[in-house]
Amino acid sequence: MDEIAIARALHVLAIVHWIGGVMLVTLVLLPGITRHVPAAERLSLFEMIEGRFALQARFSTAIAGATGFYMTHATDSWERFADISFWWMHAMVLVWTIFTFVLFVAEPLFLHRWFRQRATRDPEGTFRIVMRMHVILLTASFATIAGAVLGVHGGLP
Ligand code: HEM
Repeated sequence: MDEIAIARALHVLAIVHWIGGVMLVTLVLLPGITRHVPAAERLSLFEMIEGRFALQARFSTAIAGATGFYMTHATDSWERFADISFWWMHAMVLVWTIFTFVLFVAEPLFLHRWFRQRATRDPEGTFRIVMRMHVILLTASFATIAGAVLGVHGGLP
């Protein structure tokens, strides 16, 4: 097995862990918490579960980025970024950049503090915003995964 095949396998595994986790938070954890947990207890429960995932997601995002850039370099595919028919390459980098910014910059610097303060004041409204953000990011991630698999395997015009 060559290095590019190994990088591809690691890339896909990292995506499965990372986007799979985002899906669980978006489709199971957030709706479950908002429906069945009293507002006063939501914050600590959500932070306990999501905080644990955020820690792991930092790891899988880093692996996805490293293997993605490695494959681009090893296959000398940089010129794809100048061709709009490879929009799924741009989409991968965009999704990765947003999550990397949120996980490594925004959360430790200000997002976590903002979320705690706002959720203490207005749990309903804050969880609605958090849910909306997760739905947007999950939809973009799904579109990217579909585009990348179709693009790589000749399924796009
Ligand atoms: C820095 C960010 C990223 C870079 C540079 C990158 C780069 C790449 C490259 C070069 C390939 C192989 C393309 C080919 O074989 O022609 C690939 C495959 C793929 N990537 Fe990414 N990627 C990144 C992030 C992501 C993200 C965030 C997702 C999902 C949301 C993603 C999902 C996929 C999928 C599903 C494949 C197809 C695997 C296959 O079917 O062989 N990538 N990526």
